[in-house]
Formats: sequence, structure tokens, C-alpha cells
Amino acid sequence: MSIRLTDTATLHPLVLPARADAVPTATIRAYADVRNRSVRDVTGRSEEDLSAEALLPLLRSSPELTRTQWYVMVADEMVGVAVLNIMADSSGTTATTVISLLRSVWGRGIGSAVLEHIEHAARDAGVTRLLVWVEHPASDDASLPSPTGFGEIPRDHHARFLLRYGFTLEQVERVSMFTWSDAVTASLLEAHDRAAAAATGYRVVQWTLPTPTEHVPGYAWMKEHMSTDVPGAGLGMPTEKWDAERIARHDERYAQRGIAVLVTAAQRIETGELCAYNELAIGSDPTSVSHQEDTLVLASHRGHRLGLLVKTAGLLSWREHHPDSPGVITYNAEENRPMLDINEAIGFAPISYEGAWKKDLT
Ligand SMILES: CC(C)(COP(=O)(O)OP(=O)(O)OC[C@H]1O[C@@H](n2cnc3c(N)ncnc32)[C@H](O)[C@@H]1OP(=O)(O)O)[C@@H](O)C(=O)NCCC(=O)NCCS
Repeated sequence: MSIRLTDTATLHPLVLPARADAVPTATIRAYADVRNRSVRDVTGRSEEDLSAEALLPLLRSSPELTRTQWYVMVADEMVGVAVLNIMADSSGTTATTVISLLRSVWGRGIGSAVLEHIEHAARDAGVTRLLVWVEHPASDDASLPSPTGFGEIPRDHHARFLLRYGFTLEQVERVSMFTWSDAVTASLLEAHDRAAAAATGYRVVQWTLPTPTEHVPGYAWMKEHMSTDVPGAGLGMPTEKWDAERIARHDERYAQRGIAVLVTAAQRIETGELCAYNELAIGSDPTSVSHQEDTLVLASHRGHRLGLLVKTAGLLSWREHHPDSPGVITYNAEENRPMLDINEAIGFAPISYEGAWKKDLT
């Protein structure tokens, strides 16, 4: 089945192989390639590239997310991809979307036609709020301030596109990079010792996914708080419910994608409670840039340098296990000063900014 978008462009639903362990089809390989190239056309970076093997498990629906994908064809060439992910935590009312076209076909009305189709699909499914995250690298375009009062993005091609179709900018996220060097390692060790000295009554525990049984309840509890305790601006992200089954699915998805994840947590020695955690991840290429994923200190345990402790302890172990990875990339809300203070002290530096956009479909 194909849907006509413009005189030359058509939209096609992406069909996934039925078997969970199937290898990517030729169409999925092309989809992964166009996804990577179109993202690079915006960011100029390749850290977010995913192989077809690493992408495929992210295309399948789970109890948490109903996922649908399409691809755009012009003549015989795939030129874009589109995604609609509906969140079960919002009872199906909130969805994230992505339209990502190769730069060579921008400005021909294709994005407008894809968005119309996606909005239609979203409304049909009962979605009332559509969210988009997209990078806005520095440019000469006039700037658009974040309504949070922290950060701004340029009114570039995709900002203008989203504004034209009724999306509002809700939050700006900073993309930061940390690059390994001897000097950085020395200052990390020093920061770690400082944090460890301040965090009396806590110890560091670490594991690589899958989560050891003893840490499943504590990890699930912290994951749940990750969905509510980080600055959410006006996005209205749903509260997530995490249990042992969700942790198992989360861990299994990383395993299927060939991604190694190290969790570094702070544990209250007296009670055994997990109070803070940090995640670092890397794909199958040992020379690729690593990703910093969640970092959280539970509200009742703030003020003991646990954020700095889990970050520094995580990075120092990471260096031992993944010495060929040149650095780590991370994304943080621009208004999240406590987290940015820690990252800046460790040596993370901003390289770009993302916009988080919202459209009310009611
Ligand atoms: C943002 C994006 C989806 C827009 O797609 P696009 O195909 O370039 O957008 P369109 O061509 O439909 O509209 C862009 C402009 O071209 C104009 N345009 C040019 N030719 C057109 C035509 N034949 N028909 C309709 N509009 C046309 C539109 O009016 C619009 O003008 P404006 O900038 O003054 O508002 C695309 O650029 C992209 O993939 N960017 C990278 C990823 C991204 O930013 N995604 C964010 C959305 S999820």
C-alpha cells in the first residue's frame, strides 16, 4: 500500500519481519541508512547513527510504546522516514513523532504532506498531544527563546516548519560532549575523591545489564522517578510505571540491539536502598562515542554529592572497560542547572542544542 504525498513522492508503511530474531530486510537496511543520513544532514554528526541490527528492535511495539514507521519514496529512491510512537503511560493520548527527510528533498512540500498523514493517524488512534525532539545547530537564523527562560534555538528550516504547523517550543536541551585525555582523567579522579568524601553513609554499586535480581526493585523505583523528577517544562510527559517485567524488557531490548550498558548506583549502606544512578552505553563498535543515558538522585538523597559520585565512578570504570571509545555524549534540559554544573565540572562542553516541541491535537 502506498499513499500519494506530492506529484513525485509517496509514503509507505514499513513492514517488520514477523520473527523477533529475524535479520533486517533490505528495506529495513535502506530505512536505517536514510534515517542516519537525514539525521546527519541536520546535525553534521554521526554519534546518533544506528546499524540496521541496532535499530530493528527499536522499531517493534512493546507494552510501553505502540510504534509505527513509514518511509518516503521519490521515484526509486528512499528519501525520508517517519515515526509515530504512542505512549501507553499516557493511556495512549501522548505520542512522539519524527519526520526526517534527506536535505536534498527539503522545501518541496513532502514534509507538510507527511505531517498531515501522521496527524491523521495520531488523531485516529486517540492521540491528543504530539511531541517532537529535533536538533537545531547554531546558524545565522534569528533566535527563538525557550519558554522556560533557559536557552534558545535558531528559527531554522525545521523550526519554521514546526511553527507553521502549530507546534510550540517547550524546552531547549543542551547536547554536550566529554572527550577523554590524561588531564580529564586526572580531574575526574580528583572530583570522584571529593564526592566520595562528601557521600558518607553511601557506597557505589555497579552492574552491567541485565539487572541482577537483587537490584531490580531499586532500579525500577529509580526509573519511575526518572520520569517525574527531571525538568519537564510544558511537555506534559506521562508518569512511567516500572516493575520487574518492564526492567526485563528494557534490558532485553538493549541486549537485542548489541548495546552494553553500565549502571553505577549509590546505595545507602544502612538500609541497602538505591538512591542515585547513572547509565553509560555503547554499541558494538568499541571505537564509537559512548552515550550517557539516565542520571538521577532521588529527591530525599540530594545534597550529598551523589550525582557527582555516580557520574565520576561510572566514567572511571567505563574508561577501563571501553578504552577505545573517545568520549561520551549527553543531553540535558538547559534549565537543569544542578546537572549541568556537574557535567561542566567534569569536562562536558556544549556542542549543539535540541528543541522539544509540542502540538495539541484537540
Ligand atoms: C522539517 C522537515 C520535515 C520539513 O520537510 P520539508 O519537506 O522540507 O517541508 P515542506 O517542503 O513541506 O515545507 C517547507 C517549506 O517549503 C515550502 N514549499 C516549497 N515547495 C513546496 C511545495 N511544492 N508544496 C508545499 N510547500 C512547499 C513550504 O511552504 C514551506 O515554506 P516555509 O519555510 O516558508 O514555511 C524536513 O526539512 C526534515 O526532515 N528536516 C530534518 C528533520 C526534522 O527537522 N524534523 C522535524 C519534524 S519531525
